[in-house]
This record gives sequence, structure tokens and C-alpha cells, in this order.
Amino acid sequence: MTIAHTPQASRVVLTLLMQQMHANLEGDVHGGVILRHIDESAGIAAHRHCRRRVVTAGVDRMTFDAPVKVGDLLVVEAQVNQTWNTSLECGVRVWAEDLSTGEQRRVASAFLTMVSLDVTGRPTAVPPIQFVDADDERRAQAAQLRRDGRLEERRRLQS
Ligand SMILES: CC(C)(COP(=O)(O)OP(=O)(O)OC[C@H]1O[C@@H](n2cnc3c(N)ncnc32)[C@H](O)[C@@H]1OP(=O)(O)O)[C@@H](O)C(=O)NCCC(=O)NCCS
Repeated sequence: MTIAHTPQASRVVLTLLMQQMHANLEGDVHGGVILRHIDESAGIAAHRHCRRRVVTAGVDRMTFDAPVKVGDLLVVEAQVNQTWNTSLECGVRVWAEDLSTGEQRRVASAFLTMVSLDVTGRPTAVPPIQFVDADDERRAQAAQLRRDGRLEERRRLQS
């Protein structure tokens, strides 16, 4: 069986009903609930891409753009933007959908670096991503700039 390593092949869309147990003291959905689903969806997309266990090495540009109400659907979409040696970047976008009207609002987004691990738990090579269209290439170029910034920051903190 040939395994495709395009962004589309590993793309994940989670759809979840937000309930009272997900609320914070204000009655809106807790940010930690949204963050958990962001991490989970990125982990699934990365695992699908690598067909190996992955761990989250970092989360950046995490934004909460609008509140999510109890009763909304949370729609979490994750896809692999770019791959390197043992790591890859997943971009995640989150919408809240009003079940009655179908209206969707963008509520959060983040970029996650996931690292592929071998059976001993050491970082191991990830399959190179295969781009299909200009959008894939545009996202990969933006991911490369973010990676350069992350590595620079990592070097600065380690020195
Ligand atoms: C992520 C982890 C495996 C990296 O281990 P390490 O010994 O630092 O490994 P390396 O230095 O060889 O880095 C491995 C890859 O991770 C990347 N990386 C490591 N730390 C990173 C960070 N903070 N941000 C972005 N990328 C990072 C490196 O750039 C490298 O990628 P590359 O091979 O594609 O260039 C290790 O730090 C770890 O196990 N962290 C805990 C993960 C975890 O528990 N997550 C939460 C639950 S899933």
C-alpha cells in the first residue's frame, strides 16, 4: 500500500458538542478545554503523517479570538504544514458553530511542533511532506519562517 504524505492525507477535523462540564466560571467554554483539543487534533494529524508515536515539543502563536458558548459545536481542524528531520509543524484552527443557525465563528488558532519518536523514545526521522498545490507551499514557507524563529529562540535560551 502506498502511503500519501500530503497535508490532506493526515488532515483532522474534530467536532465536539460543548457542554456545561466544559464551562468556566463565566459560563463560557474554558480555554484549557480548547487547548486540549488543539493538542489532540495536532497529535492525531502528526501521528497519521508519521504512522509513529509523536509528542508535542512546543505550542506557539496560541490565540483565543472569541468566546465559545455552552451548546456550541467546537470544530477543530489540524493539518501538517511542514516537515523537517524529526519534527513537523501542525497548524490548528478552531471554529465555534451555532447548532441552530449553522453560523461559524473563528475562535482560536495555534501552531504546534510535534516530534516523532522511535520505540526507544528517541526522536526519529519523519516522512517528508508532499505538497499538492500552491496553498500547501505557501503554508510551508510560513512554517519555515516560524521554525527559524523557534530555533533562534531555543539557542538564545540555551546559551
Ligand atoms: C520533544 C523532545 C522529544 C525533544 O527531545 P530533544 O532531546 O530536545 O531532541 P532534539 O534536540 O534532537 O530535537 C528533536 C527535534 O525537536 C525539535 N525541538 C526540540 N525542542 C523544541 C522546541 N521547544 N520547539 C520546537 N522544536 C523543538 C528540534 O528542532 C528537533 O527537530 P528536527 O530534528 O526536525 O530539527 C523532548 O524535549 C521531550 O520528550 N519533551 C517532552 C514532550 C512531552 O512530554 N510533550 C507533552 C506530552 S505529548
